[in-house]
Amino acid sequence: MLFPYRNPELPIEERVEDLLSRMTLEEKLYQMSAILLGEGAEIFESNGTYSLDEVRKKFGSHGVGHLSCPTTGMPPLQAIRTANQIQRIAVEETRLGIPVIMDAEALHGLRADGATSYPQSIALSCTWNTELMGRIADAIGRETYSRGVHQVLSPTLDLARDPRHGRFEECYGEDPYLASRFGVEFVKGIQKHNVICTPKHFVANFVNDGGRDSGNAGMSERELREMHFVPFEAVVKEAHVQSLMTAYNSLDGIPCSANRWLLTDVLREEWGFDGYVVSDWSSVSHAHATLKIAPTKSEAAALCAKAGLDVELPRLNSYITLGEMVEQGKITEQDIDKNVGHILSVKFRMGLFEHPYIDETKAEKLCDAPEFRQLAREAACQSIVLLKNDNELLPLKNVRKIAVMGPNADVVQLGGYSARKVSGVTPLEGIRNAFGNQAEILYAKGCNLTSVDKKEFDKAIQTARKADACILVMGGANGYTGGESNDRNNLDLMGVQEDFINEIAHVGKPLIVVLIEGRPVTMSRWMDQADAIVMMFFAGEEGGNALGDILSGKVNPSGKLSVTYPRHTGDLPMCLLHRPYGREGHIAEYGSLFKGFLPSDRYIPLYPFGYGLSYTTYKYANLRLSDTSIERGEDIHVNVDVTNMGKMDGDEIVQVYLTDLYSRITQSTKKLKAFQRIHIPAGETRTVSFTLPYSDLSFLNERLKPEVEAGEFELLVGTELYGRSYCKI
Ligand code: BGC
Repeated sequence: MLFPYRNPELPIEERVEDLLSRMTLEEKLYQMSAILLGEGAEIFESNGTYSLDEVRKKFGSHGVGHLSCPTTGMPPLQAIRTANQIQRIAVEETRLGIPVIMDAEALHGLRADGATSYPQSIALSCTWNTELMGRIADAIGRETYSRGVHQVLSPTLDLARDPRHGRFEECYGEDPYLASRFGVEFVKGIQKHNVICTPKHFVANFVNDGGRDSGNAGMSERELREMHFVPFEAVVKEAHVQSLMTAYNSLDGIPCSANRWLLTDVLREEWGFDGYVVSDWSSVSHAHATLKIAPTKSEAAALCAKAGLDVELPRLNSYITLGEMVEQGKITEQDIDKNVGHILSVKFRMGLFEHPYIDETKAEKLCDAPEFRQLAREAACQSIVLLKNDNELLPLKNVRKIAVMGPNADVVQLGGYSARKVSGVTPLEGIRNAFGNQAEILYAKGCNLTSVDKKEFDKAIQTARKADACILVMGGANGYTGGESNDRNNLDLMGVQEDFINEIAHVGKPLIVVLIEGRPVTMSRWMDQADAIVMMFFAGEEGGNALGDILSGKVNPSGKLSVTYPRHTGDLPMCLLHRPYGREGHIAEYGSLFKGFLPSDRYIPLYPFGYGLSYTTYKYANLRLSDTSIERGEDIHVNVDVTNMGKMDGDEIVQVYLTDLYSRITQSTKKLKAFQRIHIPAGETRTVSFTLPYSDLSFLNERLKPEVEAGEFELLVGTELYGRSYCKI
């Protein structure tokens, strides 16, 4: 007999209800739990495989809802075969045959052996190219699904607002609008392949006092709603995201994992989220052991489950003990049914009951496929930001010998949560590929990233003397100078890197400094010595080739910063979006600088959000609005002419900022409202059009509801301070 829950013709609610009515409490608690396979796992054999008998024993007759990272350490064919074998145990050998969901990380490419590694999120956001993000997400979705992974623990939608924080690199920049556009493309691109996304960390995980990891977020609800909620709300409403991960931190004292207001009132009731919520790695246990909200882990688990946290990742730990809490009346079975209902709805919606197994013939073909590598290179090229280029030193011309030196010159830095066993291209290789026979490339490492050893300086100085130009590839590495659990209190280059730059500068050759990092670098000790500075946030497996393309002029740099660069670490936090200061001496707004006051350095960025040079220049003209006076409800149409004034074709990123000149609730001076990357051949002009919806004029009023106040607004279009126009309503 076909149980109703097995009938795909029935509405999902009916199937869920039927299945719930057949499940024991134990089976429900296993659905809310995960088993960790792979490294540090409950079942793991050193050759990267599992004993299926062990899996069978763990599944018992109750099964389990989720498997954490079961195939991360396997090559593609083994991964998909293992995934199908495990699924067969869940479907055919457990009492109710509920398929299991297998997860993995995929921040900038699936984190699996040999998979394609795209530029890290912070680098992708510097492309300002959401269409490209969509293509990358589509490619990640295909590669991920082919290996039998159903859920990716990505994207990171925290905002990069404090570069002291180690995980800064995982974010799509500091601005909520920019991050939400990337988040929506990521989720849509991946979920269309029947792989669900898990935006994280809900919420405000990376922005607490001093940039420290997972501190209490004591910010106001206004700030949450204006800033940190924005990308999450966008992926729920616009991309119908099917899962979401809580954050390790608390929010005004209440752990995000046990926060009913956050996980139920806002997420489900206000935004309409219909997926399931997962914990960050052991955050349910942390609610007891670290945040100490309850004397036992079971009691903490009950608080989390009741708040709306449906799944405990990554291993069987606290949720499995919730039976005791039901007996003690601390949570009811009806509460648990709600959590389990969320999980089952997603499994039904994904068609997992009907199609639990995946075609095994695609994984090898799609693994780092040539078209994915090409995409990785295109993205890397667009992500590189040219910060300084005195006397048009770049692109490098007429040089016969180039010295490529520095601790990051001959390594592939991919950043956090990257694919493994990646065949990446180092900067040295990429520069060799780009210059071919045109120049001899000399190499000396010179120094390490963090050690204070200077014994290789001399060799590097000799190498510099032989060269016509020096390219120093400096910066950091995930796991050493940055990344998870690697917060910093100083953004200067580490070790003796700054001394190294200064020593090589003394040789007197044209000097290009390339920074490969996951966060901004402060450069006051050496930046005047460098003729050119190139920022390459971790740029993926093709980063080396992209760098070669940029330095040689095969590609015109077009990336723009998605974060603000401070002059000194002590100036932090420093972002474009911030409310005005309350006294006249502190005018921080570059652009309206020097209105009679000279603000101290503390208020002026080294490089502002949106900044980036090119090998050509662009002129903005004829900024025009559909009307300078608009009625309630009307959209605003904006047109501007942009001319490529130089000799090289290029891509320009046109940015639209809006300022509400007067508002009874103070507002950030410039809010990014739209942007477009456009290609303009040398000497040509393109008209760029934008439509800003009326709601863009709104702010959150005293009741935190959007309101438009009649008055004057200013619109700024350009990369920095080019066009300027007024719009009145
Ligand atoms: C991180 C998550 C990640 C998880 C598993 C946690 O420490 O905060 O972002 O998904 O580890 O790798």
